Amino acid sequence: MNAQEVRKKYLEFMARQGHVIVPRANIVPDGDPTTLFTGSGMQPMVPYLLGEPHPEGKRLTDSQTCIRVQDIDEVGDTSHTTFFEMLGNWSLGDYFKEQQIRWFWEFLTSELLLDPHKIYVSCFAGDEKLGIPRDEEAAGVWKELFEAAGVDAKIVDVGGAENGDRDGMQGGRIFYYDAKENWWSRAGVPENMPVGEPGGPDSEVFYDFGEAHHDASFGQPHPASDSPRFLEIGNSVFMQYIKTETGFEELRHKNIDFGGGLERLASAAIDSPDVYRTSLLWPIVSKLVELTDTAYEGNEAAMRIIADHVRGATFMAVDGVRPSNTAQGYVMRRLVRRAIRGGLELGIQTGLMAAVVPVVIDIYKDDYSEVVEQAEDVLAVLHAEEEAFRKTLERGLREFEKRTSELDFTQRPPVPTGKRTELTGKLIFQLSDTFGFPAELSLEEAEKEDVPVAQNWQEEFNRLLDEQKDRSRTATAGQFKGGLADHSAKTVQYHTATHLMYRALRNVLGDHVMQRGSNITPERLRFDFSHTEKMTPEQIAEVERIVNDVIGRDLEVSFVEMGKDEAFEAGALGAFGEKYPDIVKVYTVGDGAGDWYSREICGGPHVPRTNELGRFRITKEESSSAGVRRIKAVLE
Ligand code: ALA
Repeated sequence: MNAQEVRKKYLEFMARQGHVIVPRANIVPDGDPTTLFTGSGMQPMVPYLLGEPHPEGKRLTDSQTCIRVQDIDEVGDTSHTTFFEMLGNWSLGDYFKEQQIRWFWEFLTSELLLDPHKIYVSCFAGDEKLGIPRDEEAAGVWKELFEAAGVDAKIVDVGGAENGDRDGMQGGRIFYYDAKENWWSRAGVPENMPVGEPGGPDSEVFYDFGEAHHDASFGQPHPASDSPRFLEIGNSVFMQYIKTETGFEELRHKNIDFGGGLERLASAAIDSPDVYRTSLLWPIVSKLVELTDTAYEGNEAAMRIIADHVRGATFMAVDGVRPSNTAQGYVMRRLVRRAIRGGLELGIQTGLMAAVVPVVIDIYKDDYSEVVEQAEDVLAVLHAEEEAFRKTLERGLREFEKRTSELDFTQRPPVPTGKRTELTGKLIFQLSDTFGFPAELSLEEAEKEDVPVAQNWQEEFNRLLDEQKDRSRTATAGQFKGGLADHSAKTVQYHTATHLMYRALRNVLGDHVMQRGSNITPERLRFDFSHTEKMTPEQIAEVERIVNDVIGRDLEVSFVEMGKDEAFEAGALGAFGEKYPDIVKVYTVGDGAGDWYSREICGGPHVPRTNELGRFRITKEESSSAGVRRIKAVLE
């Protein structure tokens, strides 16, 4: 049974139990600034889990596309992916624990036809501090179901998973674990939940791929171990609590929040612990095998990284994300770049997106029409991003070549052919700083080219990075009022946003507005300007609107050097009371020729285009000193 069939069977099974099948929500949560991506099926359901009536009723089911970026470094093993689909069903104050457990069991054993002997489950061990008892009800239902299927169902009280690593299976089938394993909220354990967050004890189901798959470095085998022998294939959350200022309160309605990873369930259905062998990923791997004429075996990590990341980036593009240096766009950029680097490992020098994205589109075309509708745009966006990154890499590689050969050349007597002089932290730093060539790539290149790497490269690299930060801090602090805290990507974005805001303030409040000070950190911008009255909410909203409009128009940010007087004649703004040298740098946002939005005398640095900034929001407007107002603003 392939993954598409697993999805279909699940939704149809749940529909037969009175659930309405609802469409997936966008991968970027709507109106939820606390998280970048939809990371679970329940996320779009939160308002309904908290009591708002859902227009489709009290029983809902779907397959939700999710991104969990926190897992990005784990991708490469058999089970981790950043992108996945979560099958979900919800009871909004309708059926509860026993019914949920029975249905999921029926789905696993009668629909997916999993062998009951390969199924293990966990339940909540209880928490005295929270006053929440051990979940004997859930364990009791499981026991009855297993025994009816002829499976011994000993209950073992494990507590912390580390006890399981030490004590192993103990002949158990049903395992009690503590809150770390068997409590679910978006924030994890009860202590981490913010006030207002719903959560509750849960019961997880694991599929056993067999003893041969156990990795003893994780200790003894048990279901919640990180060893690949057991894979969690579903989690029923008994969502009955909400965190309050004083502890936990029962929700008015007890809800069920069930989530099961589609790729994982599909893995169990084909009895393979490698989710990349399921029909939602294997066609991508096959394409890579064909492209590189190499086997999957031995190249698993690189192929898995490419398959996962290109698939994730494709869905991001379908859902409207575009590569940039902030927020979702930054994650997307990271996925594309990591995929390209994975491709380089396999010898793919060009055209990765053109080869792989159509395969991803093909996998989803029958189930998600939006994927086909957006196909052309998606491919264009990802291809352009690939081209841009390859240019960066090429420049970096050329420079690497040049610098390492120069070292050879100046060495007297000449070093033997084929062997080059050691790649120091300084060189790695320069390549990264000037050419955007990542340090990891320098290291990889050095290994490939047999260039020895200085033992202390990391130390030297970090020292240079710190020194550079200090230098730019002092330089800008000396040159400008307040200035930039550092030259990190975020600070540079805030710097450009400050220019956009300065112009907007003058548009809204008048030409008397002059910069009186500026202080920019990676967290926010702070800007002082001459103006006597408190700004009205309407004026603040108008400034925000103008700045966001300019960000959305994706204007170019460019600079030229010119004489100071010429700069003022060209309409460039400066800061109040600032002494400028005879030759100054002038930054223009918008068409450098006629139609520009903002022009300022400034040392930089700035982002190249405004669409990299994200959303601009003023968080504070207050008095700074007599006749001077102060604004703090963030990019989200
Ligand atoms: N919301 C639960 C989870 O993500 C079902 O595991």
